Amino acid sequence: MKVLIATEKPFAKIAVDGIRKEIEAAGYELALLEKYTDKAQLLDAVKDANAIIIRSDIIDNEVLDAAKELKIVVRAGAGYDNVDLEAATAHGVCVMNTPGQNSNAVAELAFGLMIMAVRNFYDGKSGTELMGKKLGIHAYGNVGRNVARIAKGIGMEIYAYDAYCPKEAMEADGIIPVNTAEELYEKCNVVSLHIPATAETKNSINYELVNRMPKNGLLVNTARKEVINEADLLRLMHDRPDLKYVTDIMPVHHAEFAEQCPGRYFSTPKKMGAQTAEANINAGIAAAKQIVGFLKDGCERFRVNKK
Ligand code: 3PG
Repeated sequence: MKVLIATEKPFAKIAVDGIRKEIEAAGYELALLEKYTDKAQLLDAVKDANAIIIRSDIIDNEVLDAAKELKIVVRAGAGYDNVDLEAATAHGVCVMNTPGQNSNAVAELAFGLMIMAVRNFYDGKSGTELMGKKLGIHAYGNVGRNVARIAKGIGMEIYAYDAYCPKEAMEADGIIPVNTAEELYEKCNVVSLHIPATAETKNSINYELVNRMPKNGLLVNTARKEVINEADLLRLMHDRPDLKYVTDIMPVHHAEFAEQCPGRYFSTPKKMGAQTAEANINAGIAAAKQIVGFLKDGCERFRVNKK
């Protein structure tokens, strides 16, 4: 059996070594395609792969057509919007993710961005502190929970909105649940996004919603660029010069944000939230173990597509 790691944004070497150990201990072969710049390289590498470990790499119908021997794709990470699930099902390929494995790394980066923004991007001018401020966690999943844990240490007042998470679970963590996204944005000085990119959430962070934030509101995005209605946010930031936006996922309209919102906008050049040795090791090795469990025992825990 051949397992391919196909990562345009590579894992740390220590994680690749760990994955190799798991795969070779199972008697399989490991192949590596890192930092590829062209889809043709991916199409070529998948030809004889039985299993693939990916990150944000796009697995679409064309890739699945080229991967004639493929049985399983594991997205080493949480969000699997980069995989065409219906096409995978049609090709008889199982798709999994590795939930929770990189969530602390993403949560820590959310605070890195937050602190940078409230300290005016380190321009020397007097900023503000996070302690005592109201934090709104938009979606209380694995990353949201880690954000809440860190925010407690900082001394923030923590609110969360998640249509799919029982309020009791939030309350048990000492978080104040709110009933609607609108209420979250109205209440909170800082909103941190942790929603996946789905048909329901795409473009949902719009003018009307973000405009509910109090004066000097800060929006932090370590989720996905697709959830932001960029035209709306640009227009809002023009209309509201008090608002700031910091993101780990460069907007399509990055140049416009940078030009029109100097001192109020920042984007990392490449999505860096999960880019730590620890997250790479956790998610990469979990992916390798899930592949071995699937190929040897048919274990389908963490499967995200239909059969
Ligand atoms: C995820 O969905 O797990 C995160 O967004 C990290 O994505 P990455 O592996 O592409 O850095």
